[in-house]
Amino acid sequence: MSIMEKLKQPSFTLPEKYRQLKKEEMEERVREIKQQLGETLFIPGHHYQRDEVIQFADAVGDSLQLAQISANNKQAKHIVFCGVHFMAETADILTTPDQTVILPDMRAGCSMADMADIYQTETAWEELQSLFGDTMLPLTYVNSTAAIKAFVGRNGGATVTSSNAHAMVKWAFGQKERILFLPDQHLGRNTAFDLGIGLDEMAVWNPISRELEFEGNPKRVKVILWKGHCSVHENFTVKNIENVRSTHPDMKIIVHPECTREVVGLSDDNGSTKYIIETIEQSEPGSAWAIGTEMNLVNRLIQQHPDKHIISLNPNMCPCLTMNRIDLPHLLWSLETIVEGDMINVIKVEEQTAREAILALERMLNK
Ligand code: 13P
Ligand code: SF4
Repeated sequence: MSIMEKLKQPSFTLPEKYRQLKKEEMEERVREIKQQLGETLFIPGHHYQRDEVIQFADAVGDSLQLAQISANNKQAKHIVFCGVHFMAETADILTTPDQTVILPDMRAGCSMADMADIYQTETAWEELQSLFGDTMLPLTYVNSTAAIKAFVGRNGGATVTSSNAHAMVKWAFGQKERILFLPDQHLGRNTAFDLGIGLDEMAVWNPISRELEFEGNPKRVKVILWKGHCSVHENFTVKNIENVRSTHPDMKIIVHPECTREVVGLSDDNGSTKYIIETIEQSEPGSAWAIGTEMNLVNRLIQQHPDKHIISLNPNMCPCLTMNRIDLPHLLWSLETIVEGDMINVIKVEEQTAREAILALERMLNK
């Protein structure tokens, strides 16, 4: 059965009754269940989640924080992960077998993570090895499937997040001469560039045509970037930056490193969601900011800082559609199935995959 067919099965589809409920009623029921389940229930939420969901999160964070929090939580029996699929998989890998991780809507994937599958990765590795021999270390952004993390783990590499990419790339160059960075070419390129690696020393691996995009002598290549991207962050453009510079000359521009090299290069600052939040929090009242990241987070920052002038770098930006799939009805549905003892959407990473993926995650978490 294909994934699409699976997702259409009744067990994966929100029952109609939840669509009829009033917001206040759903909120009341979520509150009651949280009270009833106490510490046996834990709800982590990524910064890109909707407000209607984030209000019930026991911890809110970026990808790195949520991975650390999941690894440290030993008391919860049920972890209802308000984020996307790869984050719930990571939580499952990092928790004990008696803890259950639930993703309220199985359709909450990540288009970037989908841009690298394990077959493409193994093929690429073989072809790149015939070119570069045993000189490469794989690094994968946590925005990747458990199978890719396992591949990286068994080949001596590690995961990275946007919060620790610089430290992890530096570490990788202490191990091998070259790195293969999956699946986000922009985070890889921006990080390597900051560390002094020239754009002419970076090649791009195209998983569709199975070609290395590089001009010149391949011996010069230090970083091989997987040709993947975030469909949300690629929507911030040089034109957006020019518009802000001309209409708001005093405004500072801060973007996420999943944006293109050109956008990051023209911005005043860049960093993970945690870094963006802290920078805004610590800025002077009256300061003005154009932010290049997901819209739920930008809207929340606008509400939380009425003393600052904050706009989205792209005025036509919308939220990450897959993050947005986790809504109040899906949250309530997943919580009620825990109480009823008939849980839906349990994320369970296959044992061997989890054993190898944890190697990659621990090399990052132990740094
Ligand atoms: P961080 O949480 O690492 O900033 O990443 C943002 C993101 O796109 C998560 O999907
Ligand atoms: Fe994936 Fe981009 Fe959405 Fe993050 S913002 S979950 S990287 S599509």
